[in-house]
Amino acid sequence: DTSLREAAARSGRHFGTAMRAEFLAAEPDLGAATVAECSQLTPELSMKWEAIAFHNGEANYASADALVRFARENAMAVHGHTLLWHRSIPAWAADALSTDGDWGVVARHIAATVGRYRDTVASWDVVNEPIDTGRRMDGLREGVLLSAFGPDYIRRALEAAGEAAPAARLFLNDYGLDYEIPVEKDRRYLLLKLAERLRAAGVPLHGVGIQAHLDLAKGPFDERAFAGFLADLAALGLELRITELDVREQDYLAPAPLRDRLIADHVKRYLDVALDCPAVRGVTTWGLSSRHSWLEIEPAALDFYWRVSAGQGPGPGFNRGLP
Ligand code: XIL
Repeated sequence: DTSLREAAARSGRHFGTAMRAEFLAAEPDLGAATVAECSQLTPELSMKWEAIAFHNGEANYASADALVRFARENAMAVHGHTLLWHRSIPAWAADALSTDGDWGVVARHIAATVGRYRDTVASWDVVNEPIDTGRRMDGLREGVLLSAFGPDYIRRALEAAGEAAPAARLFLNDYGLDYEIPVEKDRRYLLLKLAERLRAAGVPLHGVGIQAHLDLAKGPFDERAFAGFLADLAALGLELRITELDVREQDYLAPAPLRDRLIADHVKRYLDVALDCPAVRGVTTWGLSSRHSWLEIEPAALDFYWRVSAGQGPGPGFNRGLP
């Protein structure tokens, strides 16, 4: 049997997964499967701002360090995920940004985190999910970062990351880019325009991550339209990666064998297009098994969002394995 890492390596690509050090510590067989199949890891939680610095002044990199150590011991690349994400800004930082508009809060987080992994993390999702088809013509997501610094926060973040690790490959990462539905067509267009503006301005942006949280209920998936989108991004000189591949399946009432068949066919159609594009340099799944997928433990994920938005902290399960 060929492993996924070997299959990917045949075209010079990586195959990876999102992972938590806590899962690896608790389940040796998961570690063995990860080592056997993957040449790359993305921290599922531990490098998010809120995971590192939930409390002001008490940055904690222990969980992220453990994942990076595991990756190094097993010769895997680490993709840093993620410096700025609207769902993971610590409450103290959001307060500081909205009251003082102090860029130093962001700059220190980026310098400390990227600097710490300067020699061990080769690429970063600098801004995660910058696009939102809301009220703005440029499609940028509204929130504390945009309010405090305007659209320029993206350039500033990329430049700060580039200063902290000049050799790192810097990415924007986003979702909802896959299907022929109006909102996803808009999202593709808006992300492309954002990348185009940043590249034209000479900002250090090297790549775009396509999350690929697939969902058969969203259809139709159009090979030609998706291929065209990838080609447009590639034409800007960007490296592309499929960064969070998974398939929402809990809504399917089909019996398991049929359901699995439908999902496998869909993922094959999707990856055939992606891997036909030479700019796509790797594929990462968002977890290695359904048992560990955030889609399976969605209630816990929702509980996490609730607790955080209610100011109660991330909860006992956060960053420590399954809640
Ligand atoms: C998710 C994790 O998988 C969950 O465990 C956590 O509760 C929330 O974040 N897009 C992203 C990822 O970029 O960081 C998200 O990960 C899934 C959606």
